[in-house]
Amino acid sequence: MGAVIRAMGLTKRYPGKTALDNFSIEVEEGEMLGLLGPNGAGKSTFISIIAGVESPTAGELSLFGAPASKAARRMIGVAPQENAVYPLLTCTENLLYFGSLYGIAGREARARADELLQQLGLADKKDVPAAYLSGGMRRRLNLACALMHRPKVIILDEPTTGLDPAVRNNMWKTVQNVAKDSGATVLLTTHYMEEAEALCSRIILMNSGKVVADGTPAALKKIAGREIAKIKSIPGKYPLVVEKLQKVRGIGSITPTEHGIIIESDDISPLIQDITRVLEKHGEKIVEFSVSRPSLEDVFLKLTGAKLREGGADGQAKLA
Ligand SMILES: Nc1ncnc2c1ncn2[C@@H]1O[C@H](COP(=O)(O)OP(=O)(O)OP(=O)(O)O)[C@@H](O)[C@H]1O
Ligand SMILES: [Mg+2]
Repeated sequence: MGAVIRAMGLTKRYPGKTALDNFSIEVEEGEMLGLLGPNGAGKSTFISIIAGVESPTAGELSLFGAPASKAARRMIGVAPQENAVYPLLTCTENLLYFGSLYGIAGREARARADELLQQLGLADKKDVPAAYLSGGMRRRLNLACALMHRPKVIILDEPTTGLDPAVRNNMWKTVQNVAKDSGATVLLTTHYMEEAEALCSRIILMNSGKVVADGTPAALKKIAGREIAKIKSIPGKYPLVVEKLQKVRGIGSITPTEHGIIIESDDISPLIQDITRVLEKHGEKIVEFSVSRPSLEDVFLKLTGAKLREGGADGQAKLA
């Protein structure tokens, strides 16, 4: 059926600020798409428009192939950036409440709530008020609330921001399981490169309300440049081996330096064996072989010139 969400030239202006600027994307049925951008890029604004909470200043939004409507929005589940759960209600009560908003009640609602609590690892917390949950658990409950009505499209606004790395990994598994079990299309926003790469088959980089790049993680990384291998060997007769390495197919360029050989290629992994073989055949013992790959950070930097900032102690690279 093609695109489940299609934004055509969406613009959202607030006084003194253009949050979305002629923003056009398509979310294809069944994919897990990552919307990656720094603070203030316009990610949540886009989600608010999909959810019908905000209306665009200009442009069109179509859902499931027709202009956005209330009926179409009922097939979407949004887990918002700020947890929507009620702190004084227990996990089960929260789920039943969110179910009721979609007309799910009685035995059906209870069964669905139990199923979700089980699936998201909250079964033993069912009667605990949301206020007493850990940050990661509350985030999972927030997601569960968006799933009560079995949406065809699941939207997650920064599912793991503020969670520590172990809990974040756990959330990634949860999201993957939910997507697999439900067969739903997933749109998630994040400013963690690693998260987009771990979860998404396609990534849209956005900045200042605009699409900056759109593609698979591998395709996007090619924008930043080729992979680079640095090889050091003993005795290090580099000019000789460089000549022999010219014959290895797939190598972009080879440069001998005083300290080793530098090889550039679009994809180094499949060449490692051949390169090693050539060196060994010519009496070189490899003492160092390192490969550096361009990251999505590099791509973003190259396309926008925006600065990067290292996230806290978890070592996650973040866009600033
Ligand atoms: N109701 C509002 N009134 C005025 N400005 C707003 C409003 N909502 C959002 N903005 C502005 O629009 C821009 C985009 O905000 P948005 O929340 O969509 O960004 P974001 O990509 O979700 O960022 P974050 O990663 O911090 O969540 C920001 O500059 C924000 O200050
Ligand atoms: Mg946001």
